Amino acid sequence: MKKIPLKVAVIGGGSSYTPELIEGFIKHYDEFPIKELYLVDVAKGIDKLNIIGAMAKRMFAKARIDINIQTTLDRREAIKDATFVSTQIRVGQLEARALDERIPVELGLIGQETTGAGGFAKALRTIPVILDICKDIRELAPDAFMLNFTNPAGLVTEAVIKYGGVKSIGLCNLPIGLQMQIAELCNVDVAEVQIEMVGINHLNWTTRIIVSGEDITEQFLSESASGPGLNMKNIPDLDWDSQFLQSLKALPCPYHRYYYMRDEVLEKQIEDYKSGNTRAETVMQLEAELFELYKDEALDIKPLQLEQRGGAYYSEVAVNLMTAIYNNKKNIQIVNVRNNGIISCLPDDASIEVNAVIDANGAHPLALTGQPGPQIRGLLQAVKAYEELAVEAAVHRSYDVALQALCVHPLIGSAAKAKAVLDRLLEAHKSYIPKFS
Ligand code: G6P
Repeated sequence: MKKIPLKVAVIGGGSSYTPELIEGFIKHYDEFPIKELYLVDVAKGIDKLNIIGAMAKRMFAKARIDINIQTTLDRREAIKDATFVSTQIRVGQLEARALDERIPVELGLIGQETTGAGGFAKALRTIPVILDICKDIRELAPDAFMLNFTNPAGLVTEAVIKYGGVKSIGLCNLPIGLQMQIAELCNVDVAEVQIEMVGINHLNWTTRIIVSGEDITEQFLSESASGPGLNMKNIPDLDWDSQFLQSLKALPCPYHRYYYMRDEVLEKQIEDYKSGNTRAETVMQLEAELFELYKDEALDIKPLQLEQRGGAYYSEVAVNLMTAIYNNKKNIQIVNVRNNGIISCLPDDASIEVNAVIDANGAHPLALTGQPGPQIRGLLQAVKAYEELAVEAAVHRSYDVALQALCVHPLIGSAAKAKAVLDRLLEAHKSYIPKFS
């Protein structure tokens, strides 16, 4: 895989998260000697892109690393001959996210960036753009790996697996975040923590927790998992019921609160809706503060404030993955890949989020210690059926398929509500969602 010069294109490079990524490149420069970094954005994001480009240059200069950093609106120029293309786009920016989070709540439904009706609208806006990026990669950098962080990452990865025709891996910071939190609760270094995850993006269960070589799953579920310390900044901080966790026999992910604690979360979302504090609105303020900091010509390290975002530490995931591919490391990471029979109750071409060996050829999912029991399988299959339909709806722009996707989703579960929320979302996002038949 070693290819000189090592070129990385970041689509959505003007994101407030990019300094995370830069920090990761600097930390891992010895084993990942990046030579060219292209940060790409759309015309609407030019100011942010320029601020981030200047900040990236200061960070590399401080680390005394000399690389070629380009900011550009020309996606094709950035992709040409890239070794890695990383995508972190938000079609419609945060304003569109606010609509995804507000409209469902008006209809008595969970409103969330990646889960339920909100995540569905984001998928409809995003999948066509991502498939367009794949087209550029096929033409201009056919050997490149596409690493997708763009949400909803599971749906986007599945669309790329089925229709993209490029080498791709989907990523999320949730698994590494969980490992770090377990390490903190157990008072050990994160390197001492191994977990086995089974499921799909933002709906995965940790079925084994091994700390310093010892399987502590049962003990962890009964003693530590119900208290504070296992969540993400973007999700309402509600504690798990200890008996529920022990009967589930697995650790749910933070996003499971939308399913297993739906009523409590909805109540909180209604309050946030009324006070204008949905997560998108909170993030808009955080972003404004972050960009004020990034503008400061004296700032040349990642500011601590970035850790207030739900995606904190995503650079670890991105750079660990690129480094493992580049150096053919054959280490284990938790990523989104094609199922290929690993989870036997899901279709082979579904995207799943599981432990995989990473080498120069990409990600190879590992066989599970055990297949999920019915208490996991039921929800998993229902949400995967929704995802399957959602990808088809986005690619073929079919109203009927979209309606069925939302009806199947466990957070909607009513034809009337599915229709109402679909019509509202299609209308609200009509400038970003291609016309439906
Ligand atoms: C979590 C998820 C990411 C998501 C982020 C949102 O970390 O894993 O997929 O993008 O939260 O965080 P935000 O700060 O934008 O609400």
